[in-house]
Amino acid sequence: MNRRYRKTIIAGNWKMNKTPSETKAFAEEFKALLPKTKWCDVVVCVPLVDVPAAVRAFKDSRVAVGAENIFYEKSGAYTGEVSAEMLADIDVRYVIVGHSERRQYFGETDIIVNKKVHAALEAGLNPIICVGESLEQREMGVTMELIALQVKSALAGVPAEQIRRCVIAYEPIWAIGTGKTATGEQAAEVCTFIRATIRSLYGARLARGVTIQYGGSMNPENARELLSHEDIDGGLIGGASLKADKLIAIVHAANQG
Ligand code: 13P
Repeated sequence: MNRRYRKTIIAGNWKMNKTPSETKAFAEEFKALLPKTKWCDVVVCVPLVDVPAAVRAFKDSRVAVGAENIFYEKSGAYTGEVSAEMLADIDVRYVIVGHSERRQYFGETDIIVNKKVHAALEAGLNPIICVGESLEQREMGVTMELIALQVKSALAGVPAEQIRRCVIAYEPIWAIGTGKTATGEQAAEVCTFIRATIRSLYGARLARGVTIQYGGSMNPENARELLSHEDIDGGLIGGASLKADKLIAIVHAANQG
């Protein structure tokens, strides 16, 4: 982390877990455990149906609510979809874009990711843009090329004045939900490369201000080490974000760094 230039953000990604009632219970427990001093930013990204309950429960707290997906059009005949404006209107502040599960199961391509990034920014939401390689890609030695392609295509056409609102989450697919965390060195190497890629697009001053998270089996035990690296500015946490005490422990780890 480097707090001088950019925000540290600990974000939960609940994926397809918890009902609205469970969301309310989580929020009450979580708020009671939150440290009084503010160091890092805290975001909880929840399933769409849980968003109203989360917004209500976290109102007047310093926890921001995020969604896990949006559609890129503003409105129209897109049965079942939800726009960025609709979410912004109910006080959602962040949205995850391009998660590997969406790329894998729902055909989200780099072009779609780019459209969603633009839609989010236009509506005033901060996109958390996920990038990451599979185990096969890492073993083939194409990790950096792939990451550069994902970052550059996600940010295509994003103006300089909006780049600070974008969060990039490096999530190696082989570390997601597997209990197999990237080592601090592996994660830091790619996060540093992501910043260099942003620098090549926007220059050093703006690149320095972008928050780059690591995601993939982050937990209270490994968070502190991962966050000790200069270019790892937070975490996007799946499994461990479902338990209030675990997510709080990661917030504490970020506050200690
Ligand atoms: P896990 O923390 O469960 O590995 O999930 C990471 C993730 O995909 C967050 O978006």
